[in-house]
Amino acid sequence: MAEPIRIMGICGSYGLDSANGHMIDLVKSECNKLGAEVVIWDNKRNPLPFVGEDGCWDHPNVKLFKDMANSVDSFILSSPEYHGTMSGVMKNSIDWLSFDQTSGKIFGLISTLGGQPNSTTLNHMRTSVRWMHGWAIPEQLVMANIKSTFNEEGEIIDNALNERLVKFAESLCSNSIKLRR
Ligand SMILES: Cc1cc2nc3c(=O)[nH]c(=O)nc-3n(C[C@H](O)[C@H](O)[C@H](O)COP(=O)(O)O)c2cc1C
Repeated sequence: MAEPIRIMGICGSYGLDSANGHMIDLVKSECNKLGAEVVIWDNKRNPLPFVGEDGCWDHPNVKLFKDMANSVDSFILSSPEYHGTMSGVMKNSIDWLSFDQTSGKIFGLISTLGGQPNSTTLNHMRTSVRWMHGWAIPEQLVMANIKSTFNEEGEIIDNALNERLVKFAESLCSNSIKLRR
């Protein structure tokens, strides 16, 4: 039997105890139901240095990050929108990836917003994915007005958004299988 698909979640918020960390968890649960494994980079536990800062190239967390990225078939990028684009944490994480880890692999994109929905952050991440020679799936999740998105149990209140999340996970997994190296 084929090995399960392995997916890496990269969170654009510093801690996983954030809306973006929670979104990755929700997608992880759906992907697990489909038989995929999901590993999540924890930037608070293993902070990545800024690309270019002194000593960064030999930093042990960079090796851990690249090892995790090398081990997966695909990625989830989930970023808060900051001033109309992805966060610095997300861009710095992306900048630590190179073709070795990303070329020909599938990416699923999520953005959360404090305000009204738009797809600017998603489009910016999509551009970065293209530059990494990855394939971003057309399904994407925009989580606007994030403070009123979840109920006390952490579930998404809007059923239509829940359905989009399920379809997002299905596409991520099925396309990862199609493009598996
Ligand atoms: C520096 C900064 C800039 C922000 N810019 C925007 C923005 O341009 N549009 C928007 O809707 N929300 C904006 N927000 C709100 C964040 O998108 C929101 O707090 C975030 O999506 C919540 O996710 P988190 O819990 O993972 O941090 C901004 C927040 C910060 C801290």
